[in-house]
Amino acid sequence: MTDPFVLFSEWYEQAERAAVMDPNIVAVATASKHGRPSVRMMIYRGIREGGFSFFTNYESRKGRELADNAFAAIVFYWPHLGKQVRIEGEVQRLSTNESDAYFQQRPFLSQITAAASPQSRVMPDERDFLARIAELERVSGGVIVRPSYWGGFKLMPSLFEFWTHRDNRRHERSR
Ligand SMILES: Cc1cc2nc3c(=O)[nH]c(=O)nc-3n(C[C@H](O)[C@H](O)[C@H](O)COP(=O)(O)O)c2cc1C
Repeated sequence: MTDPFVLFSEWYEQAERAAVMDPNIVAVATASKHGRPSVRMMIYRGIREGGFSFFTNYESRKGRELADNAFAAIVFYWPHLGKQVRIEGEVQRLSTNESDAYFQQRPFLSQITAAASPQSRVMPDERDFLARIAELERVSGGVIVRPSYWGGFKLMPSLFEFWTHRDNRRHERSR
């Protein structure tokens, strides 16, 4: 079989060229240390340091689950191509250099939100959050340093499955 990284890149480029939806939207499933799964949509940020990367708050639910149980699964679906890609493997944090570099290229207001947001925690009063954002904007002088609780992860694949739609449910799957 073709190198799965190469096949993924070919399919990803097709999805980008023919995009009727954002080809970077990916479902990311994690599980607690007791094996309870959870899943959410994320934005795929490319292959970095050899793995499929995404950025988030390390103290979010997914961040805490990955700290307890590093195994995760992601799935892309590109309906305009009739293609699905499932990838499973172990997740590691990206290096601080990589997370810093990525954080610095984000828009200023997204940096502020990342720094101000206690992701996955119940917000008793949204006004506190908005006040925190305003305060950070005021003191930042236009420069926000990446908070240590925000950064990238990379999923290092141990399994790929490429699925192609075929008529009459004769779909093709290759692992
Ligand atoms: C299309 C889409 C893209 C998203 N991308 C991200 C992302 O890149 N990073 C992120 O932290 N949350 C992203 N979210 C929000 C997550 O789905 C989720 O609500 C949040 O990360 C908290 O998840 P958790 O409590 O399970 O950790 C996105 C949501 C949607 C619908």
